[in-house]
Amino acid sequence: MKAIYFEKFGTRDVLQFGDRPEPIPQNNELLIDVERSSVNFVDIRERQGTYNRPETHVGGIQLPHVSGLQAVGKVVAAASEGDKVWIGKKVVAYTPNGGGYAEKVVANPRFCVEIPESANADLFAALPNQGLTAYLLLTASTQIQSGESVLVQGASGGVGSLAVQIAKILGAGEVIGTASTSEKLDFIRSLGADDAVDYTHDDWPQRVLESTGGLGVDVLLESIGGDIFEQNFECLAPFGRYIIFGSTRGPGQPFAPRRLMQKSQTMTGFYLPVFLAKPELIHAGMEFLVKATLEEKLRPSIAKVLPLSQTAEAHRLLEDREVQGTILLDTTNV
Ligand SMILES: NC(=O)c1ccc[n+]([C@@H]2O[C@H](COP(=O)([O-])OP(=O)(O)OC[C@H]3O[C@@H](n4cnc5c(N)ncnc54)[C@H](OP(=O)(O)O)[C@@H]3O)[C@@H](O)[C@H]2O)c1
Repeated sequence: MKAIYFEKFGTRDVLQFGDRPEPIPQNNELLIDVERSSVNFVDIRERQGTYNRPETHVGGIQLPHVSGLQAVGKVVAAASEGDKVWIGKKVVAYTPNGGGYAEKVVANPRFCVEIPESANADLFAALPNQGLTAYLLLTASTQIQSGESVLVQGASGGVGSLAVQIAKILGAGEVIGTASTSEKLDFIRSLGADDAVDYTHDDWPQRVLESTGGLGVDVLLESIGGDIFEQNFECLAPFGRYIIFGSTRGPGQPFAPRRLMQKSQTMTGFYLPVFLAKPELIHAGMEFLVKATLEEKLRPSIAKVLPLSQTAEAHRLLEDREVQGTILLDTTNV
């Protein structure tokens, strides 16, 4: 089968397009004939070898590796007799071990949800990794309460654009998103955010305070790092919950936990693979995302659909911040 893989860590040049052996479903796995896959920022970190550095403490990958944390396609085989009922069904799959950058991928049926044959694969292929992250941040790392205000950092990205919409679906009050260009700010408003703030201006926390009547936000989803990490405290309300799940600009300043005492705030870390130990939460998240998309409450934003062979270009677009929403990979026209 055709796949995108890498044999060493590095820049986009390490991504190779070529033939790889088809995966063989083991234990209870399903084999999926992939129609669409998609690209996540974490795929870039994986390619750079970040997760294989001891200081990241998040677990590495083995080389050669095929990335790709999600796929939509048809089930063509099942390892266990009991799962043969899946064969022929169109599914959206979360594939936490990767493999989605390929014409075939294996998946645990617990992390697959059936979608109608007529469903637009593009919408659903954008969901699993970024959608699960957004959903679990708001339902597991914290339980968003009706009317609470939320700040989503990097709200024009894959996770961010879904988090804005999911916060609203879950009953949040004011939802504010940040981004770096006026075009991206318009995009965030079009997702249903009440306000959009340019965080390239040093006084951006002031804008968030103004938007919340001087109170600050109840929940803050942080994925940026750098100076933003510390600035976030300027617009986090008393009792506010600060949830950290990424460092797109690299780690921020060293942090002294006593800082949290000043306003009785809490800080929570989030790493999606840890939730594999709670598969029922992942399953519930997948069901939520698919249902909300089928009901058209959630509209995943598709930035672009590229042939699988152009995955390196997809990585470039993410690294150069030229994306709003999610980039998909077409595995039917490689
Ligand atoms: N902890 C977990 O389990 C988990 C799971 C999924 C994702 N993540 C993390 O969540 C973040 C978002 O992931 P994603 O897949 O949604 O990524 P994405 O689609 O590429 O979005 C990233 C966003 O970050 C902003 N950004 C700010 N500084 C950036 C920089 N130096 N380089 C690139 N983007 C920058 C970009 O907006 P502007 O250009 O407007 O600034 C962009 O909207 C990443 O940090 C990722 O590693 C963590």
